[in-house]
Amino acid sequence: MLVSAKEMLKKAKEGKYAVGQFNINNLEWTKAILQTAQELNSPVILGVSEGAGKYMTGYKTVVGMVKGMLEELNITVPVALHLDHGSYEHALKVIEAGFSSVMFDGSHYDINENIEKTKEIIKLANEKGLSVEAEVGSIGGEEDGVIGNGEVADVNECKLIAELGVDMLAAGIGNIHGKYPANWAGLRFDVLEKIAEATNPMPLVLHGGTGIPADMIQKAISLGVSKINVNTECQLSFADATRKYIEAGKDLEGKGFDPRKLLAPGAEAIKATVKEKMELFGSVNKA
Ligand code: 13P
Repeated sequence: MLVSAKEMLKKAKEGKYAVGQFNINNLEWTKAILQTAQELNSPVILGVSEGAGKYMTGYKTVVGMVKGMLEELNITVPVALHLDHGSYEHALKVIEAGFSSVMFDGSHYDINENIEKTKEIIKLANEKGLSVEAEVGSIGGEEDGVIGNGEVADVNECKLIAELGVDMLAAGIGNIHGKYPANWAGLRFDVLEKIAEATNPMPLVLHGGTGIPADMIQKAISLGVSKINVNTECQLSFADATRKYIEAGKDLEGKGFDPRKLLAPGAEAIKATVKEKMELFGSVNKA
């Protein structure tokens, strides 16, 4: 069932666990994530970056594929289809295309412009039943060519954005997209605690879920993080499994070159990554 992320995140915050957002890039990734969520009886959020949306030929294709898959695979756990780091223009596009959730990332605007644009998106999204994620203080690292500085969000700005009526808030707490550098200082739990207190009961979102040690993930959840985004780790496990398959020469033998066979090890690797994360985040059997 394609649903907004509002209820699943409210439940996650109350139950002190987090729902995973796993980014999709193609049919294989989408299928692997949905099958794992169903098998583990876990709610799930499918994230789509603007780049991935373009790669899949546009948001209408994504909506058609996901809705079709939910029906054909008999997926009964709650699934949200969410735009990841959306610009204002793309937020409008996914609202029209039939997504069930949208992130408007206005963190690179000054706070007043971020507030004004977030308000407009909330109004339009709510009319169609989509949940809304906003961001304060950009997340470090590079994603789809967007570079953040590993900022730490301002607590008062978080409070202002939370009060606009968003359903979830992403606040920079030293987290970084992609791999963490060896000298990474770790998450700023002191800041997370203050943000959680100022915005309670707002579900908080942790971006850059790849490479954060398990104990830090669990501490973040205990302090109010209810949604954790994972992208790079699925990419790495997919690429590694595909490379191993090719290096073993299997793509050249018999019917090993069949694209369905060539992409199968990568899909299995994504399933394993998603399972590990859902277990760590505590969302298993929470559908
Ligand atoms: P990673 O690429 O670090 O897994 O982060 C994903 C993310 O935050 C998507 O918004």
